[in-house]
Amino acid sequence: MPSVFRTLRRVRAAGDDSSRISPTAHYTGYVWVRNTLSPPALRTPQGAVLFTALQPAMRVASRFTGGLTLEQMLLQRHQIIDRVLDDAIARGRVTQVLEIAGGMSGRGLRFTRRHRELVYVEGDLPGMSKRKRAALTKAGLERPGHRVVALDVLAERGPLALAEAIREHVDPTRPLAIVTEGLVNYFPQDAVESMWRRFAALLASAGGLYVSDLHTRGESEYYATSRAFRRALELFARGSVHLHYEREEQARAALLDAGFTRAHLSRPRDWRGTLELPRTRGEDVIRIIEAWRDPEARA
Ligand SMILES: C[S@@+](CC[C@H](N)C(=O)[O-])C[C@H]1O[C@@H](n2cnc3c(N)ncnc32)[C@H](O)[C@@H]1O
Repeated sequence: MPSVFRTLRRVRAAGDDSSRISPTAHYTGYVWVRNTLSPPALRTPQGAVLFTALQPAMRVASRFTGGLTLEQMLLQRHQIIDRVLDDAIARGRVTQVLEIAGGMSGRGLRFTRRHRELVYVEGDLPGMSKRKRAALTKAGLERPGHRVVALDVLAERGPLALAEAIREHVDPTRPLAIVTEGLVNYFPQDAVESMWRRFAALLASAGGLYVSDLHTRGESEYYATSRAFRRALELFARGSVHLHYEREEQARAALLDAGFTRAHLSRPRDWRGTLELPRTRGEDVIRIIEAWRDPEARA
């Protein structure tokens, strides 16, 4: 285990961002490549080292989680988010995507290949977005319609604030999907709810969708599986993971309060029969948020 901490320290020291969360993007980036959801160009040496260093701990942890591994949980959330997004695009309900905290994920590439007319803007902290742009350029993977910008989703003003960072890239007259994956539970509740208010306000002009994963408290305190995952995520991010809501209903109420018109939370088991998701004996540890904002009526 000490070698895991040494590895995490090295990864953080090598990063350009002060955020404790950024190393986790190397790990998830490695998982997406390993499962052919991203091209090898998005794999980083830090991700490979972290994944290998954490494997023994993850194998032990999975004995307490009905066999579910962190990698399987990541694949569940990634594939469900993909599907929600794909459906919204196929039904013409969104024509642009803003993925916040995209890290080294390959979703932007996959979606701009699959949906030729789609505008896909990814935003992350300056160091991570620079790294992503460099990796795409080096591998010749830049695509029309796919942009990677620097933003800080917690900033309320300044050049990295959401509205400012995307001004030139997102068209306020067209319906938009906002995605966050692997982000919300690293922020305290007031920061999350202010962020959701900013998202709902941004979607108000032309309407749109917010999709995200979320861990809730009820299950996390009750089930050994969820407790084990919480510990794994804390180890990962070298700090607290915030479980803001006891139950799905409270998260739903917070989304409506933030300005969304409708909100629904699903579990991996709700997708059985629709998606081929990693499946184990244990209970589900994640929820996927799908929250819609209707456009504001014009006077
Ligand atoms: C767990 S990683 C998830 C990356 C990607 N979504 C995935 O699933 O592979 C968390 C990401 O959040 C980004 N991040 C952390 N704080 C942020 C902030 N204030 N604004 C934007 N991105 C942030 C990190 O740089 C990192 O890329």
